[in-house]
Amino acid sequence: MTQRQVCFATSSFPGLNTGLFFSTSEALWAMAVLGVLVGWLTPVFYFLLLLLFTAFLGYCAYMKYVHMKYDHIPGPPRDSFIFGHIGTFMKLTRDDDKLIFDQFLKWSEKYGPVYRLNFLHTVIICVTCPHATKEILMSPKYLKDKQFHKRIFNLFGERFLGNGLVTVIDHDLWYKQRRIMDPAFSSLYLRGLMGTFNETAEKLMDKLSEEADNQTEVSMLKLVNCVTMDVIGKVAFGVELDLLNKSSPFPRAIEAVLLGLIKHARDIFFEYNPKNRAFIKEVREACRLLRTTGAQWINERKKAIENGENVPKDILTQIIKSAGQGENTKATDECKLGCNSQFIFICQETTANQLAFCIMELGRHPEVLEKLRQEIDEVIGMKRDVSYDDLGNLTYLSQVLKETLRLYATAPGTNRDIPEDIVIDGIHIPGGVTFSSYVSSRMEKFFKDPLKFDPERFHPDAPKPYYCYYPFSLGPRSCLGLNFAQMEAKVVMAKLIQRFDFTLVPGQSFDIMDTGTLRPKSGVLCTIKHRHSD
Ligand code: HEM
Repeated sequence: MTQRQVCFATSSFPGLNTGLFFSTSEALWAMAVLGVLVGWLTPVFYFLLLLLFTAFLGYCAYMKYVHMKYDHIPGPPRDSFIFGHIGTFMKLTRDDDKLIFDQFLKWSEKYGPVYRLNFLHTVIICVTCPHATKEILMSPKYLKDKQFHKRIFNLFGERFLGNGLVTVIDHDLWYKQRRIMDPAFSSLYLRGLMGTFNETAEKLMDKLSEEADNQTEVSMLKLVNCVTMDVIGKVAFGVELDLLNKSSPFPRAIEAVLLGLIKHARDIFFEYNPKNRAFIKEVREACRLLRTTGAQWINERKKAIENGENVPKDILTQIIKSAGQGENTKATDECKLGCNSQFIFICQETTANQLAFCIMELGRHPEVLEKLRQEIDEVIGMKRDVSYDDLGNLTYLSQVLKETLRLYATAPGTNRDIPEDIVIDGIHIPGGVTFSSYVSSRMEKFFKDPLKFDPERFHPDAPKPYYCYYPFSLGPRSCLGLNFAQMEAKVVMAKLIQRFDFTLVPGQSFDIMDTGTLRPKSGVLCTIKHRHSD
């Protein structure tokens, strides 16, 4: 190359491959153009910088306004003026040994029945005041919080809960869906599910029998998770999963989407951290797996309906009916179908976690277990199956299950938008509020010696907790599956205690893990023995 030649050595420059070079005059011309461009761009750059700075100042002023509007509400000191409490939240979300709800509990005890948390310009008001809980949760006037539900509409770009029953905000849309789903959860329909509850629980008993013979340690959480998933597969979608005997990607997929959900909802930077790429990929795949499986079950059922086959009036049939209502497009119908089936499939997790926590507490409280055994022996005796009428007679078991959800609210919180200002406990509230049964159920002012596992709190003659215990939420948006879940839990527990002795493996932790739903961290490792040798 001579001194007069300038080579533009960028691989995308077309002249490079053809050996095209420029003379000095051309280079000077190019530099002049560049000079003009820089001359033009510099003021534009400064203007943009000024604009950005002004926008930042505007945002800071808005932030100051938000602070002034809400700072009369007590709350922990902010980590930073702009980010508010995001730093604390991210630390808690990233620390697997800490439970965010325990921090909420500490703040509730310190700052009282209403306290505030700041997230950029958004303010969250946490409430444990029973009167406000009653007023807000029981009323259809207060809708679910839009911001939160927007964040879980999609999960890392994959459609997740969308506009399904649990996430839909609009009251009328929700009401239509809920009315259609109701028959699949009516007591008449649930009575007919006793056979399935018994048969599936029986498979668990067979499995436990093998484990008792082999004297192996078992994770009760894993086993009950298989049972509840098998039940929901059968009664909601008409499919036999048989997870107690076959391996399946579903349990891990559900765990991944739930964990992804809390990371996505609580840590705004999670998605952008390269360290999390592999996990995000797994969550996306899990979402797709659950959606496509749901879609396959839906299509099979739709075909059966079209062919005039006699289909059960189960949850899936009701979901299909609900999608055909209103002025929805085919696309929103498909979305609703997928979202509802995904959600129902995920719901069973909360029951499995309740069962596992219950077994854990019984293992730690032999006196409670003994009393329960007596009741079960009296009501069920040596019968193989638990009948619908038996369920009503297992009152101490009901108390034990309620106490389990008091200490371990497996679905720990909910939230509502407050369209107009209200006053809670003498404090003027201008915004959305969040509630947590986990928090209020563990407060000394509502439950004496709150960390003690004591089913007598729910004795039929004991005073009822006043709007401080609501593991299934309250009011119109409360859990549709409450009776379903508690019937299933009773059948599993009654059979387990009727047939087996279980002992917790020593040295395991009794900590709680937050995976979107709360679950026992240890998995509840037990050794099993037959109660009756015959
Ligand atoms: C121990 C077990 C369970 C617990 C503690 C529980 C708890 C809850 C809670 C707290 C909510 C309200 C969520 C919110 O406000 O965002 C809810 C909603 C719901 N749950 Fe459950 N749940 C359980 C089991 C189930 C089961 C097994 C099913 C279905 C088979 C189910 C179906 C639903 C549905 C459809 C909703 C949405 C209701 C609506 O918005 O109209 N749940 N559940």
